[in-house]
Amino acid sequence: MKRISYLYIFLLVLFIVGLAFSFSFYKKADTYDERLTNARPSSSLPTYHFSLIGEEMDHDYWRLVGDGAKTTESIYDVFVEYDGPNRSNPEEQLELLDMAIKSKVDGIIVQALNEDFTPMINKAVDAGIPVITIDTDSPTSLRSAYIGTDNYAAGQLAGEALVKDTDGEATVGIITGSFDNVHHQLRIEGFKNIVDQIEGIRIVGIDESNITGVEAEEKAYTMLAEHNEITAFYGTSSFDASGIVAAANSLNLQGNLYVIGFDTLDENIDLLKNGEIDVLIEQQPYEMGYRSIEIMLDIIKDRSIEEINHTDATAIRRVDLADWTRPKDDTP
Ligand code: BGC
Repeated sequence: MKRISYLYIFLLVLFIVGLAFSFSFYKKADTYDERLTNARPSSSLPTYHFSLIGEEMDHDYWRLVGDGAKTTESIYDVFVEYDGPNRSNPEEQLELLDMAIKSKVDGIIVQALNEDFTPMINKAVDAGIPVITIDTDSPTSLRSAYIGTDNYAAGQLAGEALVKDTDGEATVGIITGSFDNVHHQLRIEGFKNIVDQIEGIRIVGIDESNITGVEAEEKAYTMLAEHNEITAFYGTSSFDASGIVAAANSLNLQGNLYVIGFDTLDENIDLLKNGEIDVLIEQQPYEMGYRSIEIMLDIIKDRSIEEINHTDATAIRRVDLADWTRPKDDTP
């Protein structure tokens, strides 16, 4: 009888100790949760984390793309991580793309410079991360959408401007950003599509600037030295037209050459104002950045989207500058 009551007491003590233990554990878990909540109030964390990867951080064109995308943070429930190499460097861009995949972001927006980007874009999509291409498309990849200039049509626009302004009589040199970059290839193809139909227009030289003004100047200088019959230049990258102008100036040819280039960077606008550049093809980098985030949200929320979203490209001449404002000013 005595042994039984000892057993009862022992079991009772065991029960009470167990109860106390689980209560203290429960209390701890509760406190930990509270601490977590205090440390990271959910209201301060946007729901969606997107990665935007551009070509060059140290470039006004890409600053505008970034500004457009970052503006959406104050409107939508998103955080946009904007990154890219300082100077054009496709390998570094691919590494950043790989890092974005590894950090399991909710969506990736990337400029697809060349064919090497296709497998990496597909890797992201296979990992369940939707991808949008921006500025330069990779139509053979698994990306969901493209936003940016229709680069072939922009090349045609440049060709049409040249035909119009020179009355179809010109000997042309071309400086392109890079032979390997899809958008530059398209800008040249579109240009050729127009000028090849005109008997009085001949293209006598084509070289690449590696996306720098210095190389654009060097290559234009060499081309002019080899072909003094050149009367017009077409530059497909932002710094090509100013490099061409610098080369023309060092050969005392200022004012004698017809120059057509891309992008309304401040220095290009100045050269357009003083007549050293004749036409600039204007793109919409701010709008590209802004709308890329809206499209990404549509994809994530299963709303219908357009696969191809072309932003405007316009030919701007000196006469147009009187009522010209940077397009950024009209976008939300
Ligand atoms: C192109 C961009 C490029 C930028 C700077 C723009 O014309 O659309 O792809 O990064 O120039 O070279």
